Amino acid sequence: MQLAARTTQVPPSITLAISAKAKAMKAEGIDVCSFSAGEPDFDTPEHIREAAKKALDEGKTRYGPAAGELKLREAIAAKLYKHNRLNYQPENVMVANGGKQSLFNLMLALIESGDEVIIPAPYWLSYPEMVKLAGGVPKIVSTEAANGYKIAPEQLRQAITPKTKLFIFNSPSNPTGAVYTPAEVRALAAAIAETDLLVVADEIYENILYDGAEHLSLGAASPDVFERTLTSNGFAKSYAMTGWRVGYLAGPLELIKAASKIQSHSTSNVCTFAQYGAIAALEGPQEPVREMVAAFTQRRSAILERIGAIAGLSCPIPQGAFYVFVDISVTGLSSLEFCNQLLDSQQVAAVPGIAFGDNRCIRLSYATDLTVIEKGMARLEQFVSSCG
Ligand SMILES: Cc1ncc(COP(=O)(O)O)c(C=O)c1O
Repeated sequence: MQLAARTTQVPPSITLAISAKAKAMKAEGIDVCSFSAGEPDFDTPEHIREAAKKALDEGKTRYGPAAGELKLREAIAAKLYKHNRLNYQPENVMVANGGKQSLFNLMLALIESGDEVIIPAPYWLSYPEMVKLAGGVPKIVSTEAANGYKIAPEQLRQAITPKTKLFIFNSPSNPTGAVYTPAEVRALAAAIAETDLLVVADEIYENILYDGAEHLSLGAASPDVFERTLTSNGFAKSYAMTGWRVGYLAGPLELIKAASKIQSHSTSNVCTFAQYGAIAALEGPQEPVREMVAAFTQRRSAILERIGAIAGLSCPIPQGAFYVFVDISVTGLSSLEFCNQLLDSQQVAAVPGIAFGDNRCIRLSYATDLTVIEKGMARLEQFVSSCG
């Protein structure tokens, strides 16, 4: 069969492959410790579930506007104003099937063949693939552990060419947990303001912060940059709603309209009653978010303590999200070899850094309970010592 060339341009998702292998082993009754999940292990808070059930019972079961229910877009605009100091109207907001679809629609709406998109590495693994699927060229800019895996304004300036269309900025970061300080965000904003670059700020982990870290939305750094910023966010990580598939994109009207038009011909609209759950998430009590962050804080301390005790392993201390990005190069193994051998020999699932553009590291998600962390890290320690 002659498949379209674009199917060969993107690899299958390595994270999904490792998770699937770990799940299959679990199903066989094998005691697997999984650090591969990219999602909170909590249930969606009750008031959110109740709001969706009520909407379902009230008959909110039909097609809705492609860009999202007006009530939800109003709630999102209000949240962005209050929480992020971003002044968007509801028509500047598109609701999509997760942050993933928001970003995908954006690429299709913006990128033309040969356009370059700057992506700092380590990156969320779907960014380069989305760019390629839209016909663009990912321009990967490597960052180092010594700088907390953050791109410096000078690196950004140097990566810009006449073909550059977009810069993808993700803070807090998946996979490194890096959080740019407000001063660092402003410094990047100043570099962006010197150019005509568009930026998408992926803020999906904005509520998961530690040690007093502060999140400043890139679009709030200066009025100039606001005009050229798209803000991508969603409900998956903050409200434990990964399976609901609700995310959103806010930005200049022309671009939001174009992205919504694309959505109207692909998925029509996000599940209508799920959007009512999302309204409850924004307008209801935020206590469940604080409880989740408190649990992540404890788990983060536990996992960092164990990593610190394993000779040769190191990672910058993550300030956000629920991942640690650990340098395993001391073992002499590639990240894929490391993860495959770790799963086969110790039944511990981790994600190879190569998936995120850094083959020296692995990503461990601590969105799992403390007993799994203790047991899994003891096994990891054994594995690393066996490599020596
Ligand atoms: C950095 C980042 N952006 C966006 C997403 C997409 O999230 P969703 O499509 O579930 O809203 C993820 C999910 O893992 C992510 O880690």
